Amino acid sequence: MMNNNLDKDNLPKHIAIIMDGNGRWAAKKGLDRVLGHNIGVESVQEIVEETLNLNIPYLTLYAFSTDNWSRPKDEIGTLMKLLVKYLKSEFDKLIKNNIRLNTIGDLSALPKAVQNEVKRVSGKTKNNKKMVLTIALNYGAREEIEYVVKKIASEVKNNTISLENVDQSIINKHLYTRNLPDVDLLIRTSGEQRVSNFLLWQIAYAELYFTKVYWPDFGKKDLQKALLNYQNRERRFGKTSEQINV
Ligand code: IPE
Ligand code: IPE
Ligand code: MG
Repeated sequence: MMNNNLDKDNLPKHIAIIMDGNGRWAAKKGLDRVLGHNIGVESVQEIVEETLNLNIPYLTLYAFSTDNWSRPKDEIGTLMKLLVKYLKSEFDKLIKNNIRLNTIGDLSALPKAVQNEVKRVSGKTKNNKKMVLTIALNYGAREEIEYVVKKIASEVKNNTISLENVDQSIINKHLYTRNLPDVDLLIRTSGEQRVSNFLLWQIAYAELYFTKVYWPDFGKKDLQKALLNYQNRERRFGKTSEQINV
């Protein structure tokens, strides 16, 4: 099995995925876009399971962007319904597998049913320790940065913090991702090679991996392929190769 070639000591701690291509997957089969989203949920289940098996502690999935509100109303409605359905159906598995559900993004604009289910499942799993599953919902990286700047500015204004103390660590503490480490590996499916307003601050040194596979076809073999590719990279963080290999 491909898995055997993976070096268990050199796995990313944090994988983020832009799950793209549901619509094109469906269109290619002559089906409605919405069906692509339905089957996409099965990929989510498989990838969560495989990430857990590999003992990777952080997985972050881009499920709905701030710009996705521009899509047709019925498609947005389907996505929202699928989210609630997913959270309800996965709840027992999250508990059993010791997974904490976390979200990033502005939840307040989401339908109440989504908000309530997210709150319930996040609350009930908040002490789970094996893995943090973060779902980006109504998320946009520029919106996140705008939120952080406003928050810090108001704290400076109230004298809660002084301007001299504003540094990268303070910024990190105000981001939606405040409890997550930096992203090590960013995967995007569907062949597009762009970031689409996802985690701009957090991917500063992430390895980027693009695959043509549409999200509904993305399974554990594809994840293993991405991980093998990751393991063949040299992460230098600005240093020279010689410095890394002493
Ligand atoms: C990703 O698939 C799912 C979401 C953005 C919610 P798309 O729906 O973007 O699929 P394509 O890109 O149109 O094929
Ligand atoms: C990014 O995919 C958002 C999610 C996967 C949720 P999009 O399909 O919305 O991105 P663009 O429009 O191709 O950049
Ligand atoms: Mg897309």
